[in-house]
Amino acid sequence: MCFKISIKDSNKDIHNSKILLMTNPNINAYIEKNKERFLDELFELLRIPSVSADVAFKNDVIKTAAVIKEKLIAAGAEKVEICETAGYPIVYGEKIIDPKLPTVLVYGHYDVQPADPIELWTSGPFEPVIKDGKIYARGACDDKGQMYMHVKAFELMMQTNSLPCNVKFMIEGEEEVGSTNLGLFVKANKEKLKADVIVISDTGIIANDIPSITVGLRGLCYVEVEVTGPNRDLHSGLYGGAVANPINILCEMIAKMKDDKGHIAIPGFYDDVEILSSEERAEMAKAPFDLEKYKKALDLSDIHGEAGFSTNERNSIRPTLDVNGIWGGYQGEGAKTVIASKAYAKISMRLVPHQNSDKITKLFSDYFNSIAPKSVKVKVTPHHGGEPVVTPSTTAAYKAASMAMETTFGKKPVPVRSGGSIPIVAMFKSELNLDSVLMGFGLDSDAIHSPNEHYGVFNFFKGIETIPYFFKNFTELSK
Ligand code: BES
Ligand code: MN
Ligand code: MN
Repeated sequence: MCFKISIKDSNKDIHNSKILLMTNPNINAYIEKNKERFLDELFELLRIPSVSADVAFKNDVIKTAAVIKEKLIAAGAEKVEICETAGYPIVYGEKIIDPKLPTVLVYGHYDVQPADPIELWTSGPFEPVIKDGKIYARGACDDKGQMYMHVKAFELMMQTNSLPCNVKFMIEGEEEVGSTNLGLFVKANKEKLKADVIVISDTGIIANDIPSITVGLRGLCYVEVEVTGPNRDLHSGLYGGAVANPINILCEMIAKMKDDKGHIAIPGFYDDVEILSSEERAEMAKAPFDLEKYKKALDLSDIHGEAGFSTNERNSIRPTLDVNGIWGGYQGEGAKTVIASKAYAKISMRLVPHQNSDKITKLFSDYFNSIAPKSVKVKVTPHHGGEPVVTPSTTAAYKAASMAMETTFGKKPVPVRSGGSIPIVAMFKSELNLDSVLMGFGLDSDAIHSPNEHYGVFNFFKGIETIPYFFKNFTELSK
């Protein structure tokens, strides 16, 4: 979830301009005529299990890049190429109509999260179906469905002779594993990626009748920990009580990560955390949010979190520490009386401005080592990270997106900060000095990363409809 942030609408006149807020019948007619084909093409992509985290799907991930290349060519893109990296390839394509016109760089990702637990899906994760107006499949919303809206909106603009500026596409296959190779690609290809703005549809809106634009993403620090007790698994009767049980110890150590107020206990953890003014917080609290509905949707009798902050603050402007997985010892049928030699956990920390993932990794590691009793050995292995980012809501690009959504939703979108992460966005700013516009169309209830991920047919077509207005508005406002 997310919440409202105050912005000064410094350009009210433009915002109210009838010309720019009028709907264009050609857009709707083109979508109407091609609806079935757009869905068929998306389904073709959704059928390929492009799980970047699992090498078993390597060929499928690579195949997905090849299919996207074909789709970009078919839509009218030029210089379309598969850019190899040390990991999965990046698909690049462009349409430069006039170097004097502005250039929009579209970023998206074609890789998806693993589908497990498979048994909880009501239909196959890679057998897309439409049920109750929603497309069910892994990646339907995150991000194949949203990324493909841009390909189809581009086709629409090409076919209706209405592409108003230059466009570049950069679609990667490693977002769900941290975008490390894309980071290197961006650093090495600054000229190729020259643009005036980046537009990304990989976030969400508050509700289908409450449009919003994301103006902040949290960063991420992810570590794996290993606790070793005795050098082999032991009989829990013969040794129990006399040696450290690494699973017990790991649980005690994890319990020491937070105090009873929900504050993270790692020394220095909050040192760089951005503190928002009470005015800013009051402004955020105005965003529509129904706590009872929120609890009901998740079957929760109560919410939980850091003392002194609202639910929407806890999941956006405050950092977190969560165990994502914990294992060790006997997990088979029946009871086995054993003290395991090792215990493990995967722990993520979501970061807010101006925390830094490398610094937090070090603070975590130092603290974890410092609270380990002598009776065990511990190891901390960092995984990929990402930096937090706030995107401006006062730029021409933001206004172009805001007006585009106002045109197609009939309501001005609310700027919100999201709790999720897209690691490359901070690098787009630091390496290319480019702002990103996070114009996503998903819903929190779309179950991304969960079983039964879905994406509304409404949202898919609303995105295709909105994107051409963004291009037009951005071109107009850049003059
Ligand atoms: N698209 C999501 C991030 C997202 C979703 C942001 C909804 C805002 C609203 C992205 O694919 C994602 O899942 N990112 C990962 C980070 C990555 C390093 C694994 C995340 O946030 O866990
Ligand atoms: Mn995504
Ligand atoms: Mn994701």
